[in-house]
Amino acid sequence: MKFVVEPAQRALEGTITIPGDKSIGHRALLFSLLSGTPIRVRGLGDGADNGRSAKAITALGASIARDGDAFVIAGTGLDGMRAPADRIDCGNSGTTIRLLCGLLAGQRFAATLFGDESLSKRPMRRVIDPLQQMGATITGPGSGADITPPLTIGPATRALTALDYTLPMASAQVKTAILLAGLYADGATRLTEPGPSRDHSERMLAYLGAPLTVSGRTTTIETRGWDRKLAGSAFDVPSDPSSSAFLVAAALVAGAREVRLPNICVNPTRTGFLDAIAAMGAKVYLQDERTDGPEPIATLVVQTDGKPAALRATEIAGDLAVRSIDELPILAVLAARATGTTVVRDAEELRVKESDRIATTIAMLRSFGITCEARPDGFSVEGRPDRPLDPGRINADGDHRIAMAAAVAALAASDSTIIDDADNVATSYPGFADALSTLGVSIQVG
Ligand code: S3P
Repeated sequence: MKFVVEPAQRALEGTITIPGDKSIGHRALLFSLLSGTPIRVRGLGDGADNGRSAKAITALGASIARDGDAFVIAGTGLDGMRAPADRIDCGNSGTTIRLLCGLLAGQRFAATLFGDESLSKRPMRRVIDPLQQMGATITGPGSGADITPPLTIGPATRALTALDYTLPMASAQVKTAILLAGLYADGATRLTEPGPSRDHSERMLAYLGAPLTVSGRTTTIETRGWDRKLAGSAFDVPSDPSSSAFLVAAALVAGAREVRLPNICVNPTRTGFLDAIAAMGAKVYLQDERTDGPEPIATLVVQTDGKPAALRATEIAGDLAVRSIDELPILAVLAARATGTTVVRDAEELRVKESDRIATTIAMLRSFGITCEARPDGFSVEGRPDRPLDPGRINADGDHRIAMAAAVAALAASDSTIIDDADNVATSYPGFADALSTLGVSIQVG
């Protein structure tokens, strides 16, 4: 699939309801499997990645029924899962495979997880090492220094061993895998992270009554004295801030009369993008801020008086890089339209996303004629706000976020841009092209 995007002819305008947050959607599905009570999940996104987690939980014994705008999930409880009849296909979804590793580590049956070409290259040792230290059996082919899918997990022959673990990198997927395994361990599993990775698991597991405490960067699951019951009634999935970032950026690049994005998750572990663009001089307003369930939400409003926003370069490093990790490709596009040179550091995790996002972000910007450099842990981008970007043909390399970032950059080009290999936009935001055209962009999907 390819996108053909025309330069913006006018300021963007409109209200877009963005699909449910992908990270929270995975957790709503996988944690509902562990619940002893049925859970009503509202707002689940329509991306293929969440679909992989939905299929996985049904293979493990859950049932999912549609009820109006919600799904009612009848889980199996912690100890009622059944062995899947087949291998579980995790598609392009790193969150599905890594969270399942933790969930399956303590089960009395074996299961095999596999994925697409990109997932088959992604490092799994980061979850396998701590889970093996807890006593889990996990095997998979080695590729270089790491272990990659397909992975076979279990069967566990006894309870897992509680673990005190310091994560080598800030990673919500690794953290969650260990927390889920910790539910099947005797005693206190304690983990400490070097940075503020997203904390949806902590919030949602606490809602279900998991014996979990958080103190600074350390999270503990203490199973002694716990009745081994998880229960709840509803998960409301707010709209995805990572998907919203592309539309906010489109409004800044093209100019906006008013673009409104309601119900966005504004959990502080996810608002690095908003902080970074505020430092670049963008004005995005938060309205209707509230906390309905475990997550804070707000309406994002972008207004630029109809003109492209005047942006200045910034530096993104440390905790801010962790809190904007999925938004760094689109931040790179904004950097290309800002005055000065933007530098991103401490983001080596980009190397092991759906693509090597340092390499693919740089290749994408260079196709638009932007001067930029890859660094081992990030990149630098020389902004070019005063003249249009070069139009041309860009390959998204199967990475949904590179495809969407390129579509936004194309709004500032001097002629049509073709973006090839954009199929995987469907993993997170199938309605992306429609949303852009509702706002006034000319984009064709071919
Ligand atoms: C995710 C965590 C992040 C993020 C990914 C989704 C999650 O990855 O990049 O898109 O849902 O837990 P890491 O856990 O590897 O940091």
